[in-house]
Amino acid sequence: QGLHSLFVASGKLFFGTATDTNNINDVPYQAIATNQSEFGMIVPENSQKWEVVQPTLRQFVYNNSDVVASRAKANRQLFRCHTLTWHSQLPQFISTTSWTRATLTAAIQAHIANVVGHFKGQCYSWDVVNEALADNGTFRNDVFLQTLGTDYLGISFTAAAAADPDSKLYYNDFNLETIKAKADGAVAIVKILQSANVRIDGVGFQAHFNVGQTPNKTSLVATMERFTSLGLDVTLSELDIAHTKLPATPSALEQQSRDYVSAVDACLAVPKCLGITVWQFTDKYSWIPSTFPGKGDACLFTANYTKKPAYFAVSNLLVQA
Ligand code: G3I
Repeated sequence: QGLHSLFVASGKLFFGTATDTNNINDVPYQAIATNQSEFGMIVPENSQKWEVVQPTLRQFVYNNSDVVASRAKANRQLFRCHTLTWHSQLPQFISTTSWTRATLTAAIQAHIANVVGHFKGQCYSWDVVNEALADNGTFRNDVFLQTLGTDYLGISFTAAAAADPDSKLYYNDFNLETIKAKADGAVAIVKILQSANVRIDGVGFQAHFNVGQTPNKTSLVATMERFTSLGLDVTLSELDIAHTKLPATPSALEQQSRDYVSAVDACLAVPKCLGITVWQFTDKYSWIPSTFPGKGDACLFTANYTKKPAYFAVSNLLVQA
């Protein structure tokens, strides 16, 4: 049995992976990515981002994202949608336009209405706002904050709710698991929305960790419970655990296994932690080496698609759960 089947048997909704169209002709990759027992949910790693779906003003392009959506459907996998309001991977017109409060509000609303409307009925959830916080817990000083203050949060979630009432609406960020000030900031975001009666359903903890520096189960559970106690679902939304020294030694591989187990075990311990998504399952396509040279091998499968000790450790944990 694959990880998703085991996770579902433990009462969870999904074990999923990021994927995209760049690996569509990789046959051994696809054999795993399309295996519903292994991954019961997929999310496009890049192809639904603003620069891809609206590269120029009012021109929407869905070829790649539609391919990922139809693969999810064909393989009976949930489809998570990622992402709408984010400072990164924005089209050029965002930085070359001189925005006013009115024009940027309209641009966000038009983008979300079009994109969420295009996928209406297909997205289990949307990452509506992504990475709005700096690591010190203050708001990231991007074009959205500079033009709209924190009002862009409510503008974004309201537009997404209107365009697809059945999709779960998430705030998604990294380092919430390890930096208390940043988790405080995310709690503040939830409260801003809730006190304005704007729907938010969940928080995604990206869970980009390093081997030997992964938060332990107790601390992860406590952080997740700060959000479930506000009535939200939570997920581990982009899990990977990178070696900081390569090549990894056998003992580092064992540490990586323990770290994966801590993360998965924490989700098991929180009833409203609904699922886990890895940010690619093979080291062959991980984003980490190109962004952090010298780091990597963060995934559950090697670049040759053999299962790593961490895969078996997670599988064993789930068999016993
Ligand atoms: O599409 C171009 C291609 O045309 C060009 O030839 C190539 C040359 O570099 O670049 C391609 O774009 C790259 C893109 O991925 C698609 O492959 C960008 O350079 C590269 O920066 C981009 O990286 C992505 C990154 O987000 C950008 O911020 C990673 O693949 C993706 O894994 C990563 O995902 C993010 C989540 O969305 C949010 N949370 C953090 C996570 C990791 O950074």
